[in-house]
Amino acid sequence: MIIEKRVAIVGAGAVGATTAYALALSGACSEIILYDIVSDIAIGKAIDIAQSTNYSRRGTVVRAIVKPEEMVDCDIVVVTAGVPRKKDMSRADLLNVNANIVKEVSLNIKKYSPNAIIICVSNPLDVMNFVIQKITGWDRSRIIGMSGALDGSRMAYQIYNKLGFGASQIKAMVIGEHGANMIPYPELSEVGGVPLKKLLSKDDIDDIIQKTKNGGAEIVKYLKTSAFYAPARAISIMVEAILNVEDKIISSSILLNGEYGYRDVSIAVPIVLSRGGVKKIIEVELDDITREKFDLAVKSIKNGISILEDSNFFNK
Ligand code: NAI
Ligand code: 2OP
Repeated sequence: MIIEKRVAIVGAGAVGATTAYALALSGACSEIILYDIVSDIAIGKAIDIAQSTNYSRRGTVVRAIVKPEEMVDCDIVVVTAGVPRKKDMSRADLLNVNANIVKEVSLNIKKYSPNAIIICVSNPLDVMNFVIQKITGWDRSRIIGMSGALDGSRMAYQIYNKLGFGASQIKAMVIGEHGANMIPYPELSEVGGVPLKKLLSKDDIDDIIQKTKNGGAEIVKYLKTSAFYAPARAISIMVEAILNVEDKIISSSILLNGEYGYRDVSIAVPIVLSRGGVKKIIEVELDDITREKFDLAVKSIKNGISILEDSNFFNK
């Protein structure tokens, strides 16, 4: 049975458009709508992607919209809108600019697609996911930040580079902040059912951890812009988990409400992603070193949130 599902993507830049293409190829949904503040970008990319679907698994309809009010009845909205850091911009400046974009987008989603599940992609990811939850006021199960899906895929790539086998059998877990305080978690990673620690030395695992944390920056070094193919695939597997019957564990940023001993912060932990969004937050026991890292990650994300609070962002 083919289920009619509409996915909107706000921000038709590199990540947004590549996500639309990945979804059109996989046939995960029946309709994809692209919106960008620069209408020509959304229109041009939607036409190009639509013209690829004749050869796709399913005749997914791809179209652009030019006004947010056309974003109606969406099952999922993926938020990739934002601006890159410009010269002379401090981290706080960038945070404020992107938070204001995400706030405007959130208000439009709330108004025009009140039953949607939102996947946040815009950076700084964990703070932006928190912003969407606060601005919509929706149940946290419907606001999910894409981070662990990408970071875990990057860790799997590094594991394969060390091992040279098992490429399709790697399960890698990354929790924490999508940023400097990311926590690649070897204890929860395995290849074909064999724990990573049984396959690789401590030095190799430490190297994997460093390279995973540096995964985004490595791409920027070569491309002078950030990644989009792996992010788009990571978003599309989250969309597929939400639209399919199969519930999946995917590490993602979610507002904590006492889990792991924290609240009022959005951070990546393993969740079960299903039809209604987040079905369950999985609390794995963290060893002492990982708990310290997790605490640092929480402090860093809370620092971002406090920059917004100090500028009265949530009350304006
Ligand atoms: P991009 O610059 O190619 O695209 C961003 C698009 O957003 C632009 O086309 C821009 O016109 C649009 N936009 C700006 N304001 C808007 C508004 N108010 N409404 C609608 N559209 C608006 O950037 P890219 O590479 O696609 O990245 C998008 C975001 O995703 C960035 O914040 C980036 O840092 C983040 N990102 C996050 C990842 C993650 O793992 N969570 C992975 C990769 C990127
Ligand atoms: C990445 O990890 C920039 O968040 C983006 O590639």
